[in-house]
Amino acid sequence: MVSILGISAFYHDSAACLLVNGEIVAAAQEERFTRVKHDHNFPLHAARYCLSEANLDVNDLDYVGFYDKPLLKFDRLLETYLDYAPSGFKSFLCSMPLWMKEKLWMPDVIKTELAKANGKENGRAAKKAGKKFAWKLLFGDHHESHAASAFYPSPFEEAAILTIDGVGEWATSSIGIGKGNEITLLKELRFLTAWVSSTALSLTTPDSKLIAANTK
Ligand SMILES: [Fe+2]
Repeated sequence: MVSILGISAFYHDSAACLLVNGEIVAAAQEERFTRVKHDHNFPLHAARYCLSEANLDVNDLDYVGFYDKPLLKFDRLLETYLDYAPSGFKSFLCSMPLWMKEKLWMPDVIKTELAKANGKENGRAAKKAGKKFAWKLLFGDHHESHAASAFYPSPFEEAAILTIDGVGEWATSSIGIGKGNEITLLKELRFLTAWVSSTALSLTTPDSKLIAANTK
């Protein structure tokens, strides 16, 4: 049996999804438990719910997957702030505390939070317990994650995949091919935020996202 917990957090609409032997057993958004719309906090309740649906413990997991690569995203943020300095300085000041506190230390944060989901409510005890987890932590490319969410649950064995997103690490639009259990991204358009903003679409709502999987 292979169990994988997928996690999206610290941006918007945090969520968790559990796969057992390639099948989605449970998936939920954190806001459904906390009643905080678009809750961006770690999906502690959602992860607990997913695991309980399969009668699993965090220790039973084989893999935990996070939906993007924080260091690559940080690289894009810094480069963009530098390019447009001094404008954007206020936004820079607002975003940096969260990066310094959580996002740059994601492996530790994820392990600690999942220890809390496992019953270790105390921060220090959770941090200690988190270091003992045996599962492997994987960070997927943001657009690979979007493509996977469209292709893998689809009925297609082979498909062309198009993702148009507000913003990921660097890519904002990508095309690729899904075949069996593999996804290959072929081309990407980088950082289209200016365009998305100019069309008055919010970066954090479904308006700014389009993912499609079509048979060839
Ligand atoms: Fe996205």
